[in-house]
Amino acid sequence: MVSPVIMGHHQRVAYLSYTLGRAMDTPPEQLSLLVLSASLHDIGAMSLLDRQRALEFEERNHYLHAEMGYHHLKDFPLFSSVSNVIRFHHHPWNHTPDAPDEIPHASHILHLADRIDVLIDYSRNLLEQSREIRDKILPLAGTIFSPEVIHAFHSQSGKESFWLELLSATQNDQPFQNIPEIYADWSLLNIVEFSWFMARLIDFRCSFTATHSSGVSAVAEWLANLVGFSQNECQMMMIAGFLHDIGKLGVPTELINKPGKLTDAEFNQVKPHAYLTRQILSPLKNLPGLVDWCSFHHERLDGSGYPYHLNAQQVPLGAKILAVADIFTALIEDRPYRKGMQIDRAIQIIQEQSRSGLLDQRIVSLLSEDAEMARYVCLNSQQYAQSRYSEFFKHLPESFAFDTCPLPH
Ligand SMILES: [Fe+2]
Ligand SMILES: [Fe+2]
Ligand SMILES: [Fe+2]
Repeated sequence: MVSPVIMGHHQRVAYLSYTLGRAMDTPPEQLSLLVLSASLHDIGAMSLLDRQRALEFEERNHYLHAEMGYHHLKDFPLFSSVSNVIRFHHHPWNHTPDAPDEIPHASHILHLADRIDVLIDYSRNLLEQSREIRDKILPLAGTIFSPEVIHAFHSQSGKESFWLELLSATQNDQPFQNIPEIYADWSLLNIVEFSWFMARLIDFRCSFTATHSSGVSAVAEWLANLVGFSQNECQMMMIAGFLHDIGKLGVPTELINKPGKLTDAEFNQVKPHAYLTRQILSPLKNLPGLVDWCSFHHERLDGSGYPYHLNAQQVPLGAKILAVADIFTALIEDRPYRKGMQIDRAIQIIQEQSRSGLLDQRIVSLLSEDAEMARYVCLNSQQYAQSRYSEFFKHLPESFAFDTCPLPH
């Protein structure tokens, strides 16, 4: 979603990995894991620049995003089994003298699948390019790529169907219908854990937003409880807090990190995130309430919000809570262009917005009545997220201090 240049890359690499894996008689369960790895392989490329770099054939710095992806995935049970595959997805075949067993077989398949996709010029006819790509890839057997995987590529890429199916890989998941589904226990507890995993992906792209979703989540859950939501709804609100900005994954990090106010043109690039949140979450058919809460978090009750310009009657109570929690958290936390605000000033601004008919009055008065508690709830949750953020970068090489956010003055 972040750029047309990257669009469809993961789906095509999933298709290529699957096709190569199948040609190598990979067992069905392993094929499922291969498709999962390929679908997530560049998850550690956090900025648009990182993502574009991951698409350059000769780029030397590939190990960094692969390492980052590994660290994101290894602690989350559903994805931990593929974290190692992703860690080594740019490792050259002949460059593993220390611990060759450490490199999973699937990494070699994924490596070649990824490089095939970056060699293709999708503005040209694919069949016309197949020979050039084969000429470039095949001599790299035994050096950059595994001879066994190259053999599979050689046998498959002679067929037109190999290239033509690649083109439709972004439109359907037909090839993957034949592989076993990966079992996932989507109990509420696991959804909470999954949403925390997603929140890290959203927030860890900048030290200033590193704890934003955690703060929103805690304040929203606390407010939901005060409003009288059931225990189950309060947990949903916590999840909504973690996921509300998921659409920001489609906004270039460079804009999220920008030290200073956004220009109108830049704001137009940030605004779609609320819409993208809806697109990303809408497959969660069993949780329609949650999807609405998240995607309406920038709606304002007088119809001046975005992207749907809903009015007070149309915005569900959960989204009204989330909006207040989002603004409160944003005001009291440091941003690249300003320090966090004092609590009294933050409450004053929120009350003004409520008086102007933008925010729900009842929720704002609940917040104002116990503002110190709201601050405590927010900071407490953010402290935990901050410790996880520091822990995350502790394991990564120095060069990962990539943060482009300057300190606020
Ligand atoms: Fe990559
Ligand atoms: Fe890639
Ligand atoms: Fe947002």
